[in-house]
Amino acid sequence: MHCDPTASHYLKLVCDAIFCTQGGEFRNEIIWRYTGNSVPKNCFPRKHDTIFWYSKGKEIQFYPERVLQPYSELTEKRYNHTDQDGKRYKISALRGGKQEIIYMKEGKYCDDVFEIPVLRGAERLGYPTQKPEALLERIIKASSNEGDVVLDCYHGSGTTIIVADKLKRNWIAIDDSPIAFECILNRLQQNKITNFEIYKTKTHEKPTFLRR
Ligand SMILES: C[S@@+](CC[C@H](N)C(=O)[O-])C[C@H]1O[C@@H](n2cnc3c(N)ncnc32)[C@H](O)[C@@H]1O
Repeated sequence: MHCDPTASHYLKLVCDAIFCTQGGEFRNEIIWRYTGNSVPKNCFPRKHDTIFWYSKGKEIQFYPERVLQPYSELTEKRYNHTDQDGKRYKISALRGGKQEIIYMKEGKYCDDVFEIPVLRGAERLGYPTQKPEALLERIIKASSNEGDVVLDCYHGSGTTIIVADKLKRNWIAIDDSPIAFECILNRLQQNKITNFEIYKTKTHEKPTFLRR
């Protein structure tokens, strides 16, 4: 659940009431941190959004190892040994004079602060609330498998759906805005995605429901 800082704390109460009373669980408050220089004007520059992650039940799909992040230069430098197979490792001192060998992984685990730049250049479509594909890629990869269904009931420009399709997930997209509908349709075409059906709800002239 993503919303802007004016309402997200109220919506957390709503989500707690929905999920946490029916067997679901609150998992994370994810801070999506973006950078950029701004001059403070009556407040510190706002450089993060909040995403609340809930699960429907106690059993979840969670694959943090699929979204490892590059180590910082400083951390990489600490892995200053290489074994005969070319694998890098560091030697850590333990209590009692013992030592431990720790091998460098492909990257470090993500924490609940996602440092992902805001939209740039060609990815920007002009839809005001469009999210970067990198943000959705991290979420979808870490929480679903190929062939699963990803639902975005407020698809907007269609970022979730494009990323879900690229990652071989099935998807369902809903939005009540004709502008959002035109936007996602163009985006699906540009990405040469054609295997989906469009449904119309009775109350709307424009189709509001797309399904792969
Ligand atoms: C924040 S935008 C989503 C942006 C999207 N994540 C993206 O990357 O472009 C929210 C969307 O919710 C849609 N929306 C708002 N209320 C709705 C409702 N009751 N039913 C369906 N869609 C709704 C709006 O039309 C808007 O496109």
